[in-house]
Amino acid sequence: MKRRRGSKSREARLSGKKILLVVTGGISAYKSAFLVRLLKRAGADVRVVMSGAAARFVTPLTFEVLSGNPVPEDLFARRDEPSVKHIELAAWPDLILTAPATADFIGKLAHGLADDLPSAVLCAAMGDRGTVYIAPAMNEGMWRNPAVQRNIRDLKDDGIFLIGPGNGELACGSSGSGRMAEPEEIIDLVISAFAPKALEGVKVLVTAGRTEEEIDPVRYISNRSSGRMGFAIAERAKMLGAEVTLIHGSVDIEPPSVDRIKKIATASEMKSAVNRSFPGCDLLVMAAAVADYRPVRRSAEKIKKSGGDLSIELKRTDDILKSLKEKKKKGQVIVGFALETDDGEKNALKKISEKGCDYIILNMLGKETGFGTDTNQISLFRGNQKLVTSPLISKKKAAEFIMDTLIEDGKIKKAVR
Ligand SMILES: Cc1cc2nc3c(=O)[nH]c(=O)nc-3n(C[C@H](O)[C@H](O)[C@H](O)COP(=O)(O)O)c2cc1C
Repeated sequence: MKRRRGSKSREARLSGKKILLVVTGGISAYKSAFLVRLLKRAGADVRVVMSGAAARFVTPLTFEVLSGNPVPEDLFARRDEPSVKHIELAAWPDLILTAPATADFIGKLAHGLADDLPSAVLCAAMGDRGTVYIAPAMNEGMWRNPAVQRNIRDLKDDGIFLIGPGNGELACGSSGSGRMAEPEEIIDLVISAFAPKALEGVKVLVTAGRTEEEIDPVRYISNRSSGRMGFAIAERAKMLGAEVTLIHGSVDIEPPSVDRIKKIATASEMKSAVNRSFPGCDLLVMAAAVADYRPVRRSAEKIKKSGGDLSIELKRTDDILKSLKEKKKKGQVIVGFALETDDGEKNALKKISEKGCDYIILNMLGKETGFGTDTNQISLFRGNQKLVTSPLISKKKAAEFIMDTLIEDGKIKKAVR
């Protein structure tokens, strides 16, 4: 197998592709100017539409010069423009990207409103085309607003692809979630939207998040898994054309848009859900952090504090990964995860032979890797050998790295059923 390369050149990857960039009124509109440069450098034909608010942040002239095309702002045509501009603009592109997408604009899209040029274009386009991406950008308070979250869920259900937002420094001076994805991340996702769908027809099952084993009605045993790694893998598999089922426990973030999502709480529920879905899948990626032990007894009432210490007797939960060894049919591929604090390579190789899975992905617990982080560094093992190690990268990039490596290794095949 080839060694993994660094970041792929973007040159000519969008050649012949028509991209409509919709810019709405957030501070990060300035980043979209750079995004136009990246799109152009990748060979795309770019047209830009701006909201009135966006034009107060960055001038249309900037986008006109960078895109090489006029930037219409008004829904109602001037004499020299086509009279139904929004319909013409909606029909033109291969992909529509809104970056930044304001809370206001997201609300309009979710409700089918069309009172200015950008919203009228999207309203017309969303009815009949699959490739609409939005990159939200706003202050954390706005992003966490239940109404904004409701609108985001509705848009995902309507088939819109969400890019980010990420965590970090925000334009309002605070730090938190709501930050627009960086132009490089956005363009890589746009490029992958046009890439050949390597997993077309493949059924992928992904587990993510943590399980919770109750001690009493208010306490439980769990771990620090955030769900980020598993969600990124599910999202990547979907982007590569797979039919994706996601089974997840407790998580810190919203799940991606995939074909089926099942939420579970305990290790035993995870086992039942995996057993139900496993026979129909071609590839299983077990990224969930399933509890190894659960309390022998669950108290029906809250355990009261007493003067002395308390012991909780724990019982081993079933080893889901290991149990699949006997159920596995020819052609099915199983990928397990190992999170280690020490002796990573030795433990990963031991796990692969004990559990009988095809691959193990090792991540070490560290400040920037493993649980609860946005970044990771992973190594992939097959049989008794290490295949590759990634640099320290975002979990989304790590998911890309993992899926690309698995595809290149050539074991994933469709239609085991
Ligand atoms: C300085 C400033 C920065 C703003 N930044 C954002 C932002 O990042 N995200 C957002 O959703 N709204 C932001 N707003 C509010 C929007 O500009 C406002 O909701 C506007 O109506 C959006 O219009 P549009 O969706 O048509 O572009 C900001 C407003 C100001 C004055």
